[in-house]
Amino acid sequence: HIRTDAEKLKVIVLRDMGPDVMPLLYDRPELNVVMWPHDKACKRQWILENVPGASGILATIVDKIKAGPSLRVISTMSVGYEHIDVQTAAQRDIKVGYTPDVLTEAVADISVMLALMASRNGRQGIEFVGRGEWPHWAPYTLCGPQLSTNPITQTRTAGFIGFGRISQATLSRLIPFGFTNCIFTSSPTSKSNPQVEEELRKKFNLRSLRRGTLDDVARGSDVVFVLAPGGPQTYYIVNEDFLRKMKKTAVLVNTARGTLVDSDALAKALREGWIWGAGVDVVEGEPDVGIDHPLVKEPRCVIVPHIGSATNETRLTMASLAAKNLIAGLFNEPMPVPLQL
Ligand code: DGY
Repeated sequence: HIRTDAEKLKVIVLRDMGPDVMPLLYDRPELNVVMWPHDKACKRQWILENVPGASGILATIVDKIKAGPSLRVISTMSVGYEHIDVQTAAQRDIKVGYTPDVLTEAVADISVMLALMASRNGRQGIEFVGRGEWPHWAPYTLCGPQLSTNPITQTRTAGFIGFGRISQATLSRLIPFGFTNCIFTSSPTSKSNPQVEEELRKKFNLRSLRRGTLDDVARGSDVVFVLAPGGPQTYYIVNEDFLRKMKKTAVLVNTARGTLVDSDALAKALREGWIWGAGVDVVEGEPDVGIDHPLVKEPRCVIVPHIGSATNETRLTMASLAAKNLIAGLFNEPMPVPLQL
């Protein structure tokens, strides 16, 4: 018996996951796979037309997902899930899958890249060369603060807003650079645990590692990494007040979500020299970030377009994990990585 589409479980796929992953879905005879066929964000109208009758949805961070009546599974190819209405999903008993862990190393890599680029005037240097204006070598041309141990004070402090997997993977990369101290803030609902902090301090072989207030992070860090989830709780956690408290030689790196940082305040901080530089992979309002955006106009702001997890290996792993989460959810098997709602 060959199933008709009506007898199959309909799943809508909001982005082509590529030739190595789509067969995981297409090869299941029980599924009627309806995929948005274009290589750009899925049109809202297309989702509305296709979601009726769908049991599962495979999404990315660019799609806002609110559960329709037939939906049983939402799978997102991302660690972030603020684009999903998880409250409604929980109420309706809809399973949600996501892809943490597998992107941790890639995002930690790019966080360090942005810290280096922001400190060492990466953007200005590249732009000079691109314009055919290679500057004459001179003792202090394009100098910036050193990321490795300060040869004068023999210390370096890394600051983290959010201290989960990606922050800790970033910290581990900074140890060989000679970082000596770490200070972090973490979600207000998670409790301070001096014993765990002491274990981490030893693990990273640091002089100190401690949880502090946002103020402590702003004032004490040579580099601040913004690595907390998006959403209303962290909206503009880096604002004018925070930036004014940072060291003038410090850099800010945001590889989390654009909404955590007030772009206007950051542009002002760079323009007026409250901080040295910034490296951002995410900007509020992306992808509508044009050449007139205040951050794009700041030469000390290194900006890349949300490519933190964009290594071949990581994106492939994320896509296949997202497909596997979807399939498991649909067939009532344990999802490889469910989101605990
Ligand atoms: C995520 O996974 O949430 C990133 O923003 C996209 O890789």
